[in-house]
Amino acid sequence: MTGFTLNRRRAMASGLALLAMPRAALAAPTVLRAAPVSAQILPKGDGTTAMLGLNGTTPGPELRVKQGSRLDVTFENQIGADSALHWHGIRIENAMDGVPGMTQSAVPHGGRFDYSFVAPDAGTFWYHSHSRSWEQVEQGLYGALIVEEAEPPAVDHDVTVLLDDWRLEEDGTLIGGFGNRHDFAHAGRLGNFARALVSVDTARRGDRLRLRLINTATARIFPVILSGASGKVVALDGMPLPAPREIGDITLAPAQRMDLIVDVTDTLRFDFPTRGDPYELGRIAVEGDNPSPIGTDITPLPAANTPTPGPADHELTLTMQGGAMGGRHSGDDIWALNGHSGLPETPFARFKRGETARIRLVNETAFPHGMHLHGHHFYETSEAGLGDLRDTTLINRGESRDILCVFDNPGKWLLHCHMLGHQAAGMKTWVEVT
Ligand code: C2O
Ligand code: CU
Repeated sequence: MTGFTLNRRRAMASGLALLAMPRAALAAPTVLRAAPVSAQILPKGDGTTAMLGLNGTTPGPELRVKQGSRLDVTFENQIGADSALHWHGIRIENAMDGVPGMTQSAVPHGGRFDYSFVAPDAGTFWYHSHSRSWEQVEQGLYGALIVEEAEPPAVDHDVTVLLDDWRLEEDGTLIGGFGNRHDFAHAGRLGNFARALVSVDTARRGDRLRLRLINTATARIFPVILSGASGKVVALDGMPLPAPREIGDITLAPAQRMDLIVDVTDTLRFDFPTRGDPYELGRIAVEGDNPSPIGTDITPLPAANTPTPGPADHELTLTMQGGAMGGRHSGDDIWALNGHSGLPETPFARFKRGETARIRLVNETAFPHGMHLHGHHFYETSEAGLGDLRDTTLINRGESRDILCVFDNPGKWLLHCHMLGHQAAGMKTWVEVT
């Protein structure tokens, strides 16, 4: 695969105090103001990076809200270009979905937009620009959105871990050319410097942690090796697993999330595997011992109130086409879905509210794609039956997967690749629920 490799010299030379991850405010801020910021992405003492941020930082502030309560956020745009915010994974009212040209008008520079919605599911979500997202997310317009259970599981620390990469000059300058067609035709814009931005620096041996992993990269799939802790996976894409699962291989496509509950045994490390030594993304240092570890069994999180699919009312196929080394297709851009590049005038499918659809996602291209549906979660399926409930599914090159979804949320919803350059170069469509 082409693209940049991660800059190991910098990684190994670095101390680990990098971007200070903004702590959660006591109450979620009511204004998110997007504007240029200067960020310390490289180790302190190396250069700073001109980015875009929210309320003065990139990533933007972590928003926290209790399940079932309303989040009111006024978005103020001072970035010098149109923008809008999307609340990724929230089963939201359509008008609040943040998609310019589909659910709202773009917010111009100097403009504002009032977002107000109820967060129906407890879990790990995030927000990001959905306006020229391949450029604005890359420039830093995103943050974590945590929806808390009424009674969260007992842990010593609730930790957010944002995985991202950046393409930087040696002096920290963010390399431009966000719309680079060569990147778009391959794996997307991969960075040369990657990090796990961890909201907690230290823990005690024996502490129980909830780790909320979020892949905020525009293109990079993150495999993560976790060491220094043992525990279970308890949720994917904000949705609780019916039974906690052994950790196994951790892989997150862009936009995917994973919640784990773990007990600290040693310095906790997040590593990116490479052919040589692992590339350290981040760590939580150990300081002292917890005299009274929680130590109870890790039990399932309270089940989400999502609809159960019935027999499929619709059987559909969505074929991913194009890209470098891909076959021909009839679309007019690099990538296509069912022979069409970009948003078609009529939706890929129309559903009556509550209908179940089985959609076969077929990847005919030479690259993996992380396909994301707005406004709903869907089940991945296999021969064994229903699999995980997700909002973004990773389909490797040459593979296909059926998803099963109850379309119960009225409105116009995007269905697109979350490798944001692929989306920009044609890999997107939409559905309508009436
Ligand atoms: Cu996370 Cu259409 O987006
Ligand atoms: Cu893609």
